[in-house]
Amino acid sequence: MNTKEKLLSALKKNTGNWISGETLSRELSVSRAAISKHVRILKEQGYDIESATKKGYLLKNLSNRVLESEIIDGLDTHRFGKKEIVYFSITDSTNTQAKKLAEEGAPEGTVVITEKQTHGRGRKGRSWLSPDGDGIYMSVILRPDLPPFEAPRITLLTAVALAEALITETGMSLRIKWPNDILINGKKIAGILTEISSEMDAIDYVVVGLGLNVNTPHENFTHELKNQSTSVYIETGTVFSRVRLIQAFLHWFEKYYDILLTSGFSSIIKRWRTLADIIGRNIKVDSIGKSYSGEVVDINDDGVLMLKDDKGNIHRIISGDVTLM
Ligand code: BTN
Repeated sequence: MNTKEKLLSALKKNTGNWISGETLSRELSVSRAAISKHVRILKEQGYDIESATKKGYLLKNLSNRVLESEIIDGLDTHRFGKKEIVYFSITDSTNTQAKKLAEEGAPEGTVVITEKQTHGRGRKGRSWLSPDGDGIYMSVILRPDLPPFEAPRITLLTAVALAEALITETGMSLRIKWPNDILINGKKIAGILTEISSEMDAIDYVVVGLGLNVNTPHENFTHELKNQSTSVYIETGTVFSRVRLIQAFLHWFEKYYDILLTSGFSSIIKRWRTLADIIGRNIKVDSIGKSYSGEVVDINDDGVLMLKDDKGNIHRIISGDVTLM
């Protein structure tokens, strides 16, 4: 731990109680000027710390930003988020930044996170609305030892992990919409953008980007999104800790990723099918300039949607936008 981390930990241990500069300087073996400098930095990062001569320092409230120091504190993973969490108060897109880091050799499990994206990207060249401090905008770098054709499994796995995190933390009932949206009461609360760099026979890296509307109030959605998007706050009426949700997601994500690498995909796709509740339903899919209607027969292990049209023909659809009929 560096001085700032040690100071934060000492202040946290004494939350609600004053602790003198002298005690802190002795415990951390640094000067009182150094304590005062690091308190100022913590305040700038959003920690609510009161200072008073003779009394010292009092941590009143934690920062509500998605800082590395907060995510690490209580994170129960062994790899994801453990090696490196790269935090930006603002950036263009965490996927873009994660891809840059991956190209430079960043290890598996590196997490890139921000408060706000100026060019948040969605699937199919769409944009992802990323208002300051409202949501989770995060990307994780993976380097799986899998053949490239199995990479779509990672997107399905991510949707399952995110669904589990939301269910356990918020109790909301949700549905996965193929391939990778999370819906609550028919409205989109989260999306996943997976990007891959590979050779013919081996994956170099995968960047899994996750956008989750957490504390977004209705008025912060654009006019176009108001009818089709929602947030944890809108659905529950409660402001949720984004840090807690990130920790829960990383917990489930690592758990399912380990299952994928050690025991395969079958238990994951089984859970996905339960959460998606799409098999047997009549849908319309718009896919690369074509539109298909029919009944969903299956989602196979590669995430391919098998659709039976009214003539009994089976269509294998790799990606698209689904509308329930
Ligand atoms: C979609 O549903 O179209 C996918 C949306 C993915 C948005 C996330 S936010 C964090 C990461 N960075 C991006 O630019 N996009 C993903």
